[in-house]
Amino acid sequence: MASPQLHLVSPNKAAPRASARTRDSKPSAKVVSKKSKSLPFKHLLGIEDMEACDIRTILDRAEYYMRSGRHLKRCSEALKGINVINMFMENSTRTRVSFELAAKRLGAEVTSISVAHSSIRKGETLIDTAQTLRAMAADLLVVRHPHSGAVQLLAEKLDCHVINAGDGFHEHPTQALLDAATIRHRKGRLEGLKVAICGDVRHSRVARSNILLLQKMGAAVRIVAPPTLLPDQPSLHGVDVFTDMREGLSDCDIVMMLRLQTERMQGIFVPSIREYFHFYGLTHEKLACARSDALVMHPGPMNRGVEIDSILADDLGRNLVHDQVEKGVAVRMSCLELLSG
Ligand code: NCD
Repeated sequence: MASPQLHLVSPNKAAPRASARTRDSKPSAKVVSKKSKSLPFKHLLGIEDMEACDIRTILDRAEYYMRSGRHLKRCSEALKGINVINMFMENSTRTRVSFELAAKRLGAEVTSISVAHSSIRKGETLIDTAQTLRAMAADLLVVRHPHSGAVQLLAEKLDCHVINAGDGFHEHPTQALLDAATIRHRKGRLEGLKVAICGDVRHSRVARSNILLLQKMGAAVRIVAPPTLLPDQPSLHGVDVFTDMREGLSDCDIVMMLRLQTERMQGIFVPSIREYFHFYGLTHEKLACARSDALVMHPGPMNRGVEIDSILADDLGRNLVHDQVEKGVAVRMSCLELLSG
């Protein structure tokens, strides 16, 4: 696999329009609206080409589902008659189940296939598998793939909607959206917050999507990592880079932790897990460098004793990891509904 870059592929372009990018304040009054808008693009491939107003539309609709508790039960016929296929070519627990629940709660027909059970194992190309699924009348394909850019390729070849559920180290847009929804729900805003993204930024699609989203919404983003785990070409415009964790966390509102993405590493990036935990593992003691009300986030799965101390992993007063999973269903309901609307 090629080494990670910060600009790998260009996701589908949003239709041009007059609206300017705007900064995020608090959830808008649209939250109470029962009628959803739609998005000006067919596929959800990445945050890169999304406008702040699209992000806000998705977050507002997710907020509606969260506030009404409607993400917890089958609540709508919005996707009745829509055939959603989840195609996961990489291991996944929470993202796959979250998309399944979201689609079912909107009344869709849902089928999930994973690499272990797909014909890709028998030598079929990704495009051929996808076209077979399309021939089975998929209206919306949710795809996770180990190669950056694979989801965009599918979107170009198929005429159904495609959602990127994580492609290589490129983007994971719905994770960034659910992180934003979680922050906005807890802090009331994104604009002006100081967010530190810590750990294996180099191999992380979550970091890339979050950096893009948070900057579009007016947050101040820092990354904190050992030099070996910083991206190759830090075209990190406007991002402050720290290699000392205590300095990087100073005065932050949100501390986002990342797992060491060993499945994407070629070579050795940290001398030892013990040393990595010593310098970059988040503990209550290091968290004390952040603001006293700072919250901890993690996309999961957490590796206790590697990037996060087990005691902090269980401290649900500070650690929003389960909150993120819960908000994820509402955010994916919002994305599915708005995209197919
Ligand atoms: C992330 C992913 O797959 O990129 N996890 C997730 O979607 N919940 C992060 C990770 O695997 O570490």
